[in-house]
Amino acid sequence: MKSHIQSLLVQALDVLKQQEVIPTDFEARIQVDRTKDKTHGDFATNLAMMLTKVARKNPREVAQLIIDSLPEDSQVSKVEIAGPGFINFFIDDNALANQLMAALNDDRLGIVLPEAQTVVVDYSSPNLAKEMHVGHLRSTVIGDSVVRALEFQGHKVIRQNHVGDWGTQFGMLLAYMEELRAQNGEQSKMELSDLETFYRAAKVRFDESEEFATRARKLVVELQSGDEYCNKLWREFNDISLNHCHDVYERLGVSLTRADVRGESTYNDDLAQVVIDLDTQGLLSESNGAKVVFQDEFKTKEGEPLPVIIQKADGGYLYATSDLAAMRYRANVLKADRVLYFVDLRQALHFQQVFNLAHKANFIDDSISLEHMGFGTMNGADGRPFKTRSGGVVKLVDLLAEADTRALELVRSKNPDMDEDELVKIAKVVGISSVKYADLSKNRASDYIFSFEQMLSFEGNTAPYLLYAYTRVAGIFKRADDVDLRGARIQLDHDKEKELGTKLAQFGEVVSRMVTKGQPHALCGYLFELAGAFSSFYEACPVLAADNEEQKKSRLLLAKLTAKTLKQGLNLLGIETLERM
Ligand code: ARG
Repeated sequence: MKSHIQSLLVQALDVLKQQEVIPTDFEARIQVDRTKDKTHGDFATNLAMMLTKVARKNPREVAQLIIDSLPEDSQVSKVEIAGPGFINFFIDDNALANQLMAALNDDRLGIVLPEAQTVVVDYSSPNLAKEMHVGHLRSTVIGDSVVRALEFQGHKVIRQNHVGDWGTQFGMLLAYMEELRAQNGEQSKMELSDLETFYRAAKVRFDESEEFATRARKLVVELQSGDEYCNKLWREFNDISLNHCHDVYERLGVSLTRADVRGESTYNDDLAQVVIDLDTQGLLSESNGAKVVFQDEFKTKEGEPLPVIIQKADGGYLYATSDLAAMRYRANVLKADRVLYFVDLRQALHFQQVFNLAHKANFIDDSISLEHMGFGTMNGADGRPFKTRSGGVVKLVDLLAEADTRALELVRSKNPDMDEDELVKIAKVVGISSVKYADLSKNRASDYIFSFEQMLSFEGNTAPYLLYAYTRVAGIFKRADDVDLRGARIQLDHDKEKELGTKLAQFGEVVSRMVTKGQPHALCGYLFELAGAFSSFYEACPVLAADNEEQKKSRLLLAKLTAKTLKQGLNLLGIETLERM
């Protein structure tokens, strides 16, 4: 509906251009917003205010000229000027009902499909040297939900799990693996089942023994220059480590597969070329033996130039180097229109620098949009980064196990008579959903406080609240399964029906915003409001005890569309619905 209003305004502008009220080459940015207060109609635009300069008239005069030039339209029942020169649009109830009927009969809920793009999404991307910990939750969960929404809109999405599998720490890990093998033979495989412990033990050896450290440094160099023995050790290590990640993805219901893994190491062969190409473009400088790029746009607070380090003095490449190679690959081989990076905000400067450099060095076309979708930190109750009691990092598997246990207690307390199997099944969904939803529902750019109590509450904008709301709506049909809805129509008579209908009609706009901005919290907030609008409707408008058959069927259809929208919305967040809880 919003895009429909926009197209009406485009037509009005064309008329005003013909009449030479505004210059023919004037490009107006037409913004249409939902109104907060329904006495101002359903949509409003500030277009008239934007045109006062070029039209050399006051805003209310311009608004009137626009209104006079709008084409006749059956979907708009009234257009008014408000305040200093806003134009308010009132949507015809019948047109709204038609839109809702169309949504009911469409797999994609009647959303307006944008022009399809190829979108590469870089998310999760953990460093393989360690086990996945809470710090990886945000990228994984937020990225996966935006991926789902992009696909729902018809885009071609290419997932890229840019795992850190190539840093200097690998020398240390390989040296330790080698040492353990020498001591215990094949048994050392067992040690790797706990990557965290393995990493810490390797670090201890690295710090205590100069000999070990030297061996570790030597192994990295051999690994990076393709030595077969080192590569074999490395592959074994990565394989075990990736298995850990994929266990977590499966548990979380995240859509990443092994085929989506394209780690830093895969760009190894292109890194020397990156250096050559930067050099050819005259972009490289030397700094203490290292090869670096200075860009005028980046300076320290003191005004000192801030380099991107491309190659260290010892010949080693860096994080930025593989990111440059990855950008070329994504642009030229994968043919991306957009590349989205779901990575911690603390890497903001890194991305600004490499994005700028990739364009400057002509590695990628200017039309390709590189977007860092940064996120804040997950903190504990004390407002400091989330840690275990003993101060260690919290492993994701442990966090999810605790969510399961707590969810089981919660579901059991609500359903003391339910049999154990069903309780466990429901608790699994509630536990995982709560963790995911807590993360998704916060603006990704802010830090947030992780709290099991809050996320497992049935009150407020939480997963249990929404899952329960869904079971309630779905429950209405269980009690009405004998009603034949063929040929029935939605009619919006009661105020609460109109409010619910208006909310339902916004789904496509919300998905669109979520995809453009990479912000699932917009969808969470919407689903929460939708559940609220349904409750108010259900309180005010009896469904099964409606005044007549037509009204009953209309209300059942509204309930059906609400259920469908909630289910689809939760699905885009990567959350399964339950029929009962
Ligand atoms: N492995 C990195 C980390 O854990 C994140 C990688 C993000 N993606 C990228 N293309 N740099 O910090």
